[in-house]
Amino acid sequence: MGVGGRLSAGVERRSGEGLVIRVPGDKSIAQRALILGALAEGESRIGAAPRGADPLSTAGALAALGVEILGPDGPASEPVRIAGPGLRAWRQPAAPLDLRNSGTGARLLAGALAAQPLSVVLTGDDSLSRRPMERIAAPLRRMGAGVEYVGRPGVLPMRVTGGPLTGIRHGGEVASAQVKSAVLLAALGAGVPVEVREPRRSRDHSERMLEAMGVEVAEGWRDGAWSVRLPNPPASLAPLDMEVPGDFSSAAFLLAWAALSPGRAPLTIRAVGLNPTRTGLLPVLARMGIGVEVLPGRLAAGEPVGDLRVGARTGPVRAVDVGEEEIPGMIDEVPILAVLAARARGVTRITGARELRVKESDRLAALALNLRRIGVGVEEYPDGLAIEGTERPLAGTVECFHDHRIAMAFGVLGATRDCDLEVDDPAVADVSFPGFWKLLERVRVPVAGKPAVRAEGPRSAPRCVVLAIDGSAGAGKSTTAAAAASRLGFRHLDSGAIYRAVTWALLESERRIDEMDQVTREELEALEVALDWSAGVMGVRIRGIRVPERALRADRVTASVSRVSAIPLVRAQLLDLQRAAARPPGLVAEGRDMATVVFPDAHVKVYLDADVRERARRRILQRIGTDPGNAEIEAEAARLKGRDLLDSTREVAPLTRADGATIVDTTHLDPVAQTEAVIDLALPFLPPKH
Ligand code: S3P
Repeated sequence: MGVGGRLSAGVERRSGEGLVIRVPGDKSIAQRALILGALAEGESRIGAAPRGADPLSTAGALAALGVEILGPDGPASEPVRIAGPGLRAWRQPAAPLDLRNSGTGARLLAGALAAQPLSVVLTGDDSLSRRPMERIAAPLRRMGAGVEYVGRPGVLPMRVTGGPLTGIRHGGEVASAQVKSAVLLAALGAGVPVEVREPRRSRDHSERMLEAMGVEVAEGWRDGAWSVRLPNPPASLAPLDMEVPGDFSSAAFLLAWAALSPGRAPLTIRAVGLNPTRTGLLPVLARMGIGVEVLPGRLAAGEPVGDLRVGARTGPVRAVDVGEEEIPGMIDEVPILAVLAARARGVTRITGARELRVKESDRLAALALNLRRIGVGVEEYPDGLAIEGTERPLAGTVECFHDHRIAMAFGVLGATRDCDLEVDDPAVADVSFPGFWKLLERVRVPVAGKPAVRAEGPRSAPRCVVLAIDGSAGAGKSTTAAAAASRLGFRHLDSGAIYRAVTWALLESERRIDEMDQVTREELEALEVALDWSAGVMGVRIRGIRVPERALRADRVTASVSRVSAIPLVRAQLLDLQRAAARPPGLVAEGRDMATVVFPDAHVKVYLDADVRERARRRILQRIGTDPGNAEIEAEAARLKGRDLLDSTREVAPLTRADGATIVDTTHLDPVAQTEAVIDLALPFLPPKH
């Protein structure tokens, strides 16, 4: 890292130069590094990568695409390593890729997938599933990719079918780094030249990283638009070795806290990314009378990095006007600016910020509602806000709308004098800033022993709600279980994957399939089967190594898994492992004996079923990405009937509907409706915020 010894976020020192802290690595940069590392050839090393929920979602999606990623959920002091397979070597995932809350992950991956010979469905949580996708779908379609909406038009879930592409010139209507990056990644993967024009310059992390990886990037103003071109995309990409700088957007919350806390010691934030397309808040702070000293340092993968220091304030915080031309450079800092404005002298006017309506929440509406609720005068425009600063005490409950920046912006205000705020969903800060509340608590000048914010809700020990979903192959278990788990914020236990991993390990040990049932307890124990919840999705480790998705889905594993999972010793051996997966707030357990054997006390028991021909159609569609013909359906249906027979007549834990299980027939239900049906059954057991 070059600066200091400590890499992770936290407080470093409290003496001499005042308070010295670090913030987590930049999630915008880190997610690009993950994706580009996964397209490179050879091992990439990403130091100081943030471990927030967004980068974990992107890492999880890449792992599901067959890319080996080590340590995305490990300690921030350890680098993440990616075994880059090359530009077009990703594998067909078994299930839709769930990007949860990450807009950057979903949009950039859609671009990268447009050049892969795969057909992949991208999904996300409720907030991401409201955000517009046509802005990337349209240019990707023009390049030759298939992009279709699986549910409602214009939003996730969305299927991207990639293949050979042609170069285009894309003129976007909004300045969006996600759109620009999606198109650049598609062109890079397909090896075709491309030009993206944007009305204003958006953040340029992709361009800088591509250049650092040896790709030619041409940029400049052309005919009134900012133009970025890849004139000669290379045939392969060199791997990355970089340290991710601290996230300026995360640092901004601490800068604002310092600005609103007169009388405290000077605050220094070390090793922050100072890319000029990101630091647009600094000149605005200067106009507000908040001096931030910038101590530039070095470059990391083309990104300038340095320290930021806020001294003591001399005068009052002044209101400012911020217009359209300044918004792209501070697109994620409007929430914290609004909070500063609430304590500034005069009326702050923010305009040209319509894009804020389609972020993790409608940020203009969320800011207006919460500011008013706590006692600040606000006028809401279609594209901005007018905020009347006040010195009056402020109090009330803040509604986060599942938006990390709304939670943190009001968290900062709550940690200043004369504010008594309650944030309804503090945990959402983990999307970009794990450890935010702890850091805020440690830096702030204690105000009469009051905690910075109070988290709502009962303080009793949290319980784990278990949803057990059983059913036959192709009935929709995986899709439904994954989507329900993601919606509820629960773990998703895919018991089939555990049996597949064991089958794979036994096949690797060259045991003949007709001798599988001679496997001994010692042999099974020696496999050291363990579950790995890194990256938010379940993985299976055998002797410490995560079994790659493509091994789990290999044909020979598919052909043998029913035999292996019918062995009583195998089932007994894996029981505790599955039960230990249950953690608060909940678990969605999916398999064939979840409600009967593994979780007989599950709160909700569901048995999914569907007509065997429909199940056969879905299985083939999942494998090859297109609708099969009748003959193929009949052949697969015959195979499935054989499998059903094996599963339902085996000696132990046969597939059967548990007592009290609700049958959901999915023959005529789409994945969204299946998920809704399961969530409806779970509702009575969920805490109120669901
Ligand atoms: C991002 C770009 C911005 C920003 C988001 C991250 C990126 O979104 O708001 O937090 O990593 O490219 P838009 O491209 O939609 O403006």
